[in-house]
Amino acid sequence: MKKRKVLATILGSCMVLSLAACGGGTATTSTPPAPTGSAVVEGIESQVPAGGTVGVCIYKFDDNFMTTYRTALETILKDKGYEVTVVDGNNDQAKQTEQINTFIAQGVDALIINPVMTSAASSIVNLVQTADIPTVFINREPTAEDMASYNKCVYVGCDAAQSGTFQGELILETETKGDINGDGKVSYIMIQGDPENIDAKLRTEYSVKALTDAGMEVEQLNLTRGDWDQNKGQEICANDLAQFGDKVEVVFSNNDSMALGAMEAIKTAGRTVGKDIYIVGVDALDAALDAVKAGEMTGTVLNDAQSQAEKAVECMEGLLGGTTYAEGEQSIYVDYVKVTSDNVAEFIK
Ligand code: GAL
Repeated sequence: MKKRKVLATILGSCMVLSLAACGGGTATTSTPPAPTGSAVVEGIESQVPAGGTVGVCIYKFDDNFMTTYRTALETILKDKGYEVTVVDGNNDQAKQTEQINTFIAQGVDALIINPVMTSAASSIVNLVQTADIPTVFINREPTAEDMASYNKCVYVGCDAAQSGTFQGELILETETKGDINGDGKVSYIMIQGDPENIDAKLRTEYSVKALTDAGMEVEQLNLTRGDWDQNKGQEICANDLAQFGDKVEVVFSNNDSMALGAMEAIKTAGRTVGKDIYIVGVDALDAALDAVKAGEMTGTVLNDAQSQAEKAVECMEGLLGGTTYAEGEQSIYVDYVKVTSDNVAEFIK
């Protein structure tokens, strides 16, 4: 407890700037800025090093995008002097809940949680609220209602609808607007992530909505769950191409891993991206950027792991410094960015 107080006081001094950036006017702070350099807390008169303990729960380590994300997060936290423990939930909510309970029992100062199941968010909020541990949810957005009961929790991530819209726009920006065979409709297959996840739901919906909003007629040939996984993406696309053949004009993939798998199936089927088929993903994984550059993928959408990790840490520090979030204002978004062969060079590291 004392440790947390010390931390809050120290952080109060460096939080003034970051508060404005994290959540803008939505956040309020109750901790006045403390003098910089040292912290004097209830009789402790010494230089106290900045930092504290942070527990990070990742839904599973075996996920390409979340690997980039957790690496960025760990680096930022360590560079700032925090003691960080990152745990693998193995895609098992019961296991993750246990990990959260362990962090609580250890008395961590803050938690950063990428929930296995967003439907578990309300029970997670109950746990962290009872223990009064400031918590930042990442990557899988809980509902506003789930977060409302605890004003020291916030979601930092992206607006999944935006990534779907951008995928649709990438298709609209092609020469044929997706109607390669000129039959008046865009015939597509959808390779979906884990449908429990809001990213999968909204990308599926909004990618197609962008086409219909632009007046295009669409035909869904198939929609299959690929759980964000490259091998599944390849298998699904191979099956669909075998079943629907040349009818498939567009492959919408909810993420790049599955798109990279699908890309292999497209090559094996002897189809040519940009000529007789289009394919778009989300994340801007390194391999996907290379594929966009080589013309093997039509485009992708940058899911900015670095900016999300920075914002998550900023919000965590805000919470530690006394920031609270009002109901309905507990989601902080980082923008997605469209990536095509025109601008891909800007994103290749
Ligand atoms: C998405 C990302 C996917 C996968 C998923 C996990 O935002 O695009 O590749 O990592 O998060 O929840």
